[in-house]
Amino acid sequence: MERSLIIIKPDAVNRDMAGRIIARFEEKGLKIIGMKMELLHPVKLKEHYSHLKDKPFYAELEKFMSSIPSILMVVEGKQAVEVVRKMVGPTQGRDANPGTIRGDFSVSNQSNIVHASDSADSAEKEIERFFRKEELHEYKKMNFEWIYSKDEKN
Ligand code: TYD
Repeated sequence: MERSLIIIKPDAVNRDMAGRIIARFEEKGLKIIGMKMELLHPVKLKEHYSHLKDKPFYAELEKFMSSIPSILMVVEGKQAVEVVRKMVGPTQGRDANPGTIRGDFSVSNQSNIVHASDSADSAEKEIERFFRKEELHEYKKMNFEWIYSKDEKN
């Protein structure tokens, strides 16, 4: 099973949306294997957003992302990275289709509710950046039998 990192950003926490966002991933059938609240430090954010560090909006992005704590989650499932990205929608909330998280809750390209890993490779790096090994939990979920077919369960 694949893993993906999700960050419920400060705008979503401020707008009391964390529960609704978490519920969407649960309802989809993804398994939560790690979750915590953390005030993201600028040093970690510089690593996390290293592909954007020279962009004119970077300073504002860092200020926004470190303004209040975020809720970080690791979810697990078959093709979890792609599944989560599809649920989240494109960066600009105004372009995101209704039904996606950004499409339903955001009209912004900064305050866009959630971060989601964009590839299996970056998911691995991001999970390592934000979670210690002992913060990730392996456990058997009772509904597993009802979420995947027999040949999908690995
Ligand atoms: P990016 O990695 O391009 O998108 P995504 O979050 O969809 O993977 O950008 C990271 C974050 O940077 C994005 O979620 C919000 C912020 N951002 C801005 O604040 N302004 C911008 O113009 C863009 C493109 C991104």
